[in-house]
Amino acid sequence: MLAEKLKQNTLTNHQQLEKLLVGRMKAIRSKEDYINLLQLFYSYFGGLEQQIDQFMNADELPDYRQRRKSSALVNDITALGGVPAQKATGENLPAIQSIIQAYGAMYVIEGSTLGGKIISKMMAQQLGITDGKGLSFFSGYGADTETMWDTFKHMLNNQAYTPADETLLINTANQTFLKFKDWASR
Ligand code: HEM
Repeated sequence: MLAEKLKQNTLTNHQQLEKLLVGRMKAIRSKEDYINLLQLFYSYFGGLEQQIDQFMNADELPDYRQRRKSSALVNDITALGGVPAQKATGENLPAIQSIIQAYGAMYVIEGSTLGGKIISKMMAQQLGITDGKGLSFFSGYGADTETMWDTFKHMLNNQAYTPADETLLINTANQTFLKFKDWASR
């Protein structure tokens, strides 16, 4: 199944990104530090979303509109008194020129809801947030996170792919991880 291949073939890049981000998250001590983290996600995911939107729609993925949107990041940033940063463009993003590539990038965005649960717990603890304020993005789909992930994987696995499509999709997912790591390391 493609979802399983994606997991295996992007594992190294996921681990490297996770290491970089966990280090940064552990150092977060103030609301301002956390706003910076949210801005990092907003600028990259927001730019990506604009690219994905050109190819992905509700005909392709019926629950597309319900899926995570950078608007949750805008809400969190403004709730904490910050201003959203500029979105990433051009070479700072992976190339998305087809629905296959849109799926590759979406795999990364959707999968990040799984790690998001850990991140939101870490942030709530480190910043003493008890009312959930500013944590909506990292809370993903709340109690529905696993179901939403399973539905996404099901949709992903049920497309007709040529071997070339599979390679392109996996490469795009890897590029999405790598470019995020570059963006986070600027
Ligand atoms: C500090 C940060 C992160 C931690 C601690 C973390 C942790 C995790 C965990 C625990 C899983 C679930 C593994 C499983 O149930 O099999 C997961 C899956 C995943 N994460 Fe992360 N993650 C982090 C950041 C990210 C980010 C920033 C992205 C994307 C930009 C991402 C993309 C993914 C993807 C695509 C999967 C799905 C893997 C699969 O195919 O099952 N993660 N992550």
